Amino acid sequence: MSDKPTVLIVDDNLNNLSLLYDYLKNIHIKVFIAENGESALKRLEYIKPDLILLDILMPGIDGFETCRQLKQNPETKDIPVLFITALTETVNKVNGFKLGAVDYITKPFQQEEVLARIQTHLTLHKLQKEQKIKTEQLFKLNQEKDEFLGIVAHDLKNPLSATLSVIELITSHYDQISKTKMTKILNELSISSKRGLVLIEKLLNINAMESGKMKIFLQNINILLIVQHIVEEYSDKAEAKNITLQFNKQNKSYLAFVDENYFFQIIENLISNAIKYSPHGKSINIRLILNDNAVRCAIEDEGPGISDSEQKKLFGKFSRLTPQPTGDECSTGLGLFIVKKLVEAQNGKVWCESDLGNGSTFIVEFPIVNSKS
Ligand SMILES: Nc1ncnc2c1ncn2[C@@H]1O[C@H](COP(=O)(O)OP(=O)(O)OP(=O)(O)O)[C@@H](O)[C@H]1O
Ligand SMILES: [Mg+2]
Repeated sequence: MSDKPTVLIVDDNLNNLSLLYDYLKNIHIKVFIAENGESALKRLEYIKPDLILLDILMPGIDGFETCRQLKQNPETKDIPVLFITALTETVNKVNGFKLGAVDYITKPFQQEEVLARIQTHLTLHKLQKEQKIKTEQLFKLNQEKDEFLGIVAHDLKNPLSATLSVIELITSHYDQISKTKMTKILNELSISSKRGLVLIEKLLNINAMESGKMKIFLQNINILLIVQHIVEEYSDKAEAKNITLQFNKQNKSYLAFVDENYFFQIIENLISNAIKYSPHGKSINIRLILNDNAVRCAIEDEGPGISDSEQKKLFGKFSRLTPQPTGDECSTGLGLFIVKKLVEAQNGKVWCESDLGNGSTFIVEFPIVNSKS
């Protein structure tokens, strides 16, 4: 696609048309032409030039009417119009400006003057377009930020209010609380404080990723050892829900070109999700698969599964979907968003294969880098 500016010239006088056409082409402007108002309006259904040079006296609808119609159309109303006409009376100029034209040039015209005015309006129009895009981006960012703040405030409010009520209870009844009850209360206090802390840590993590402050150290690592380590670490949590974690110990090596800490975080999120959303008594199967250029880790559960429409939201920020934790685990809806960012930062891919009611399989894939190449 060329980024040359484009101008539509509308004039019934063929001499004027060809003269202007040559001027503009010489200064690398792409020119479209129309010989009257009707054909200009028709052409504007398909092209959106950066500027329109419009004659006034033309057969059929005149330039004023053409201008009026295109200023009424949301698709064309922002394209600057320059009248270029033999009508020299002030009343006509005023009329042209009232209709929304940005400039008015009278014939016979000086080539340099026309070119200078065209350049000025093209530059202004370009700046306006850029400004409009920036304003729209800022508006969207501001909306996202409001939404984000709303969710964070809501999610932090719960652990904080729980903490506060516990403190109030202790303050007002401390001499009547037994040691056992106190231990229970303090345990609750610790859980709700941890929830708040985990949320803040995740938000800081996301902030570092989004502001490009994430430091990645990619190297060839045997991911089998990391997966094994996480499986062992999570076996108690799985056992508490009577869930079997299946991962066959192997002597083979599965080298992937990843950052060790981030790989750990990814697999930990996926295994903890599988445990969190699986009903009691089910199994989770973890596999490593090696092919020519990539290594995969697949985590398959027998949980509730995720519908096609919810799968589209799965990796979004604050995506808490229909499946709910089956124990008392907390859910912030940020885990998979972080996973996707981390996977992509390591040139990998992550996706989910699932049928509602039939469990889910989360797969991450990372490239293999041959140390000899
Ligand atoms: N294995 C799974 N089976 C069924 N649903 C899942 C599974 N993993 C995730 N989900 C659904 O996707 C949503 C988003 O998951 P994600 O890991 O991003 O957040 P979370 O588990 O709610 O909270 P966090 O991971 O931040 O503690 C979950 O709330 C859950 O509804
Ligand atoms: Mg999660």
